Amino acid sequence: MPPRDAPLVLGIETSCDDTACAIVAADGRVLASAVSSQLEAHRPFGGVVPEIASREHLRNWPAVSAEAFERAGVTLDDVGVVAATRGPGLIGALLVGLSVGRALSWARGLPFHAVHHLEGHLYSPFLSAHGLPADEVPPRFVGLVVSGGHTALYRVEDGEVETEGETRDDAMGEAFDKLGKRVGLPYPQGPVVDSLGELAEPQPRMPVPRCGETLDFSFSGLKTRAIQEVEKLERRGVPTDLGGVAGPEPSPGPELLPVLSLLAAFRRAAVRQVLDRLERMHRRGSFEVLAVSGGAAANRELRRALPEWAEEKGVDLRLVPLRYSGDNAAMIAWAALQRERRGRRDDPLAVTAASRIPL
Ligand code: KG4
Ligand code: ZN
Repeated sequence: MPPRDAPLVLGIETSCDDTACAIVAADGRVLASAVSSQLEAHRPFGGVVPEIASREHLRNWPAVSAEAFERAGVTLDDVGVVAATRGPGLIGALLVGLSVGRALSWARGLPFHAVHHLEGHLYSPFLSAHGLPADEVPPRFVGLVVSGGHTALYRVEDGEVETEGETRDDAMGEAFDKLGKRVGLPYPQGPVVDSLGELAEPQPRMPVPRCGETLDFSFSGLKTRAIQEVEKLERRGVPTDLGGVAGPEPSPGPELLPVLSLLAAFRRAAVRQVLDRLERMHRRGSFEVLAVSGGAAANRELRRALPEWAEEKGVDLRLVPLRYSGDNAAMIAWAALQRERRGRRDDPLAVTAASRIPL
């Protein structure tokens, strides 16, 4: 059981390019979740530069943590448990948040949790978007994580996680980013490819990668196929550069319709692949609860398709609230609470960061 009555959990997440700090109550209510993205710092390079990420975390942490405490209306004295991401991610970036967490926990004599980043995503669909207590995590559920670094299906039972399938190459978000980069979009390209995909009919139809009969995913072939289609358009003199149209309300001219159709077709095939694996998994052994999380769980087509599929199968779908789909620290604090309930804690002096670790 948690120490002191109803301690607050301080969550820290710095595994990639978001500096995040959250204060979460014992019932999973998120009192504050502050995230500072480093978009501007990385944008000139078209993707995340590890060395810059570490430095930005160091620079941003004081302001981000101050913001979280202020919004929650609490102080460090109210914190009873400290949690930080230990991996996977960029090693220098991870070290910043993990070191802060270890030091705080040790100096204040507070329990510490070194959380696996994917464990954070896995439980995030149970968080409330409205500042309410989190939903009770069911003892058994299937977790689908679709992010920029991972695309995988898990079976979770009493806190034990079995990997059922994962991507053999690119993650879903990563493939969106790479295709977007090819057509001139600024980083992060995934959300923009998604918005632009809303503006045209998907064409041509792209095949869904099969990966044999496994529950694995593959997005690299699909991405290459889409890039080949971009090249075909270019050879015909059709414009494909979307660099000028990105923005919150993109307004591309009609000459760009062919490339928009391509983005829509790529998105459709990517989403179909996800549904295909869910279908396969469900056929092998039905499940009651499906929890979907990760940055690419913000994808609009995916968010339209999943409820339909779940309803047809009678599956209780938990789609991560949009504010917790991308990397954040509330999910890290919430995952720590699951560990806390099972009596699993880490020694703040002994834990280390790791860029690759199994769940
Ligand atoms: O979970 P996340 O914030 O970081 C990782 O753990 O990877 O996911 C970020 C990824 C990026 O690749 C981003 O382009 C992608 O999620 N993403 C999307 C969308 N929004 C974010 N991909 C497709 N459609 C979206 N709407
Ligand atoms: Zn993530």
